[in-house]
Amino acid sequence: MEHDNGCRQDMIAKACVSLANATVSQTVEEWIKRRTTLDSHGIVVPRLAFVYKATVYEEYVPLDFNRCLEVSTGAERAALLGSLGRTARIVGALGFERVPLHDARTHGSDCVIVDFGQDLGGPSRGTPARALAQVVNDLRQWRILKPNDADIIQAA
Ligand SMILES: Nc1ncnc2c1ncn2[C@@H]1O[C@H](COP(=O)(O)OP(=O)(O)OP(=O)(O)O)[C@@H](O)[C@H]1O
Ligand SMILES: [Mg+2]
Repeated sequence: MEHDNGCRQDMIAKACVSLANATVSQTVEEWIKRRTTLDSHGIVVPRLAFVYKATVYEEYVPLDFNRCLEVSTGAERAALLGSLGRTARIVGALGFERVPLHDARTHGSDCVIVDFGQDLGGPSRGTPARALAQVVNDLRQWRILKPNDADIIQAA
């Protein structure tokens, strides 16, 4: 996509596949509602370009969050963990079931949530403490967690 100021940006098109009990347009509507809620509470989401025929066109966020975290150290690592901690806290406070961390992307130092479907779940019984524990557990299971990482996430 080319902006008015001449900047070019990569886009991704995501077609919605309907779940058994909802039409595609209902599902897309729900996705948009959830991303708007997350966005308005300070979570980083891809820039939304437009929705056409149950397909969402949005900013392509260049990097895989977990891959970046795996290879990062020092201030860069602290920034990624801080952003993840703040994201988990907000996701939990809004009552969502889990942070869809395996899909998360990054521009380099932030944590960008891209999946607003079933992986996010809820909103239901989520809490900040549960969401924080979940992301720490996920990273531990995937062997990405280093000593002190959990403290940085929890303190964010
Ligand atoms: N805006 C984006 N920018 C870059 N990559 C993206 C973006 N949105 C999605 N992706 C990539 O596509 C993958 C699948 O996207 P998403 O989670 O939205 O779909 P899904 O149907 O839930 O698929 P899955 O079942 O694999 O999670 C993500 O893991 C991510 O790597
Ligand atoms: Mg997903």
